[in-house]
Amino acid sequence: MQDSPLLIIDEGTTSTRAMLYRASGEIDGFCQSDLVQHYPTAGRVEHDAAEIWDKTLACARAMVERAGGADRIGAIGITNQRETVVAWDRATGEPVTRAIVWQDRRTADRCRELRDAGHEPMIKARTGLLLDPYFSATKMAWILENVPEARDLGSRLAFGTVESWLVWKLTGGLHISDASNASRTMLMPIDGHDWDDALLALHGVSRASLPEIVDMAGRFGSTRPELFGAPIPICGLAGDQQAATIGQNCLAPGDVKATLGTGAFVLANTGAQPPRSTHRLLGTVLTQLEGERTYALEGSIFVAGSLVKWLRDDMGLIGSAEETERLARSVPDSGGVCLLPALSGLGAPHWRAEARGVIAGLTHGTGRAHVVRAALESLAHQMHDLEQAYAGDGCVWRSLRLDGGMSANDWVAQDLADILRLPVERPRNVETTALGAAMLASVGCGLHASLSQAAAMRPGVARFVPGMEAGRRAARLDLWHELLARELGSLA
Ligand code: G3P
Repeated sequence: MQDSPLLIIDEGTTSTRAMLYRASGEIDGFCQSDLVQHYPTAGRVEHDAAEIWDKTLACARAMVERAGGADRIGAIGITNQRETVVAWDRATGEPVTRAIVWQDRRTADRCRELRDAGHEPMIKARTGLLLDPYFSATKMAWILENVPEARDLGSRLAFGTVESWLVWKLTGGLHISDASNASRTMLMPIDGHDWDDALLALHGVSRASLPEIVDMAGRFGSTRPELFGAPIPICGLAGDQQAATIGQNCLAPGDVKATLGTGAFVLANTGAQPPRSTHRLLGTVLTQLEGERTYALEGSIFVAGSLVKWLRDDMGLIGSAEETERLARSVPDSGGVCLLPALSGLGAPHWRAEARGVIAGLTHGTGRAHVVRAALESLAHQMHDLEQAYAGDGCVWRSLRLDGGMSANDWVAQDLADILRLPVERPRNVETTALGAAMLASVGCGLHASLSQAAAMRPGVARFVPGMEAGRRAARLDLWHELLARELGSLA
């Protein structure tokens, strides 16, 4: 058992991955498959849940083969893009419509109606969340209202976030969701362990369609034997941002991490008390083990790595993500260009679903390096505003632990240290999300006795210290705040 690798499934927004982790933290195998992003109309983002399952299964099978068979695997840990809603038929186990992805803005009007009707204070007090299309509940309500095939299923309809969907498919019908994912639906009270009747009624979602809420480590069930040749126990479950926080060993109150994936997600451990933000940050479940909770204060920025992808795939300004670092270094500054990356509206701390992206300050002297540099700079600008919001809530950052694909860019890591005026550290392996799921699975199957013991799996870190001259930093932030105020001012 001590030597059996853990099979980790990291089902993200743009790709699904499977990895083999040793109890020492070493990675023995890796498989990745990109997911098709469907953008049916402006503001809508969908995934095909059948594709998520097929690609996850194929990657997992590749890892089982690499390990030498299912009986060699100690346990499975699953971590996933959060909030995204899958609707399926319990009888067939097939999705009834495309999954609505967390970035999807189609329920912005519904959220506005609920806000105008005065529901936001109650939602915030109960769930720690704000009224935004980001969360799962209004997406479920939209499906019930607009997809007759889903509505007509009655008691056969199952809703779940992506970990629920994968567990259902892996086990052949177990319907569970871990507390970290459930805390993102807007249907679970932040300090409760079950779905909330008032919230279910508000969104018109029936309790019977939802999974049972469970811990994040434990023996939840086993995979169908025919999938991998023998059953494998599923022992760890977590939303990807909570998993990354665990993988960064942010296990003490005050520890803060930022994951730079599709979006940029900051989570600060706040200990055993649910956080109550007055600065438009979110309260969320960080861990639940044997029913005991710890919480985090979260700042969600919707666009980070997806901006680089947009520069590459839609604008054709770069050939690869790696090129951004060389281009940013090739000019002394952005040449006065400032970019507001509101491609999916603005998340924390503004929460303006209707905001749109802007590139300002263009002249004949502007080249693509300036635009690319401005795009990278926009991350530190947004992160600065988040840091201020956290400070307003009494959570002062002492340092920042970075991870996620975009954190591999040294220029970005240094720019964050400079603009935040904070030491920034980045683990040698930036796959912290999968590591967090491995730590949970390891505790769940008994390889480690606690998360703090499992933290020995974390690799060494690189450090970045602030060095930017004060005037230069202030000028950048002034330009950014001017652009931000202009865009926010133009919204009704
Ligand atoms: O809340 C959304 C988040 O879980 C998505 O994470 O890594 O797919 O950008 P990622």
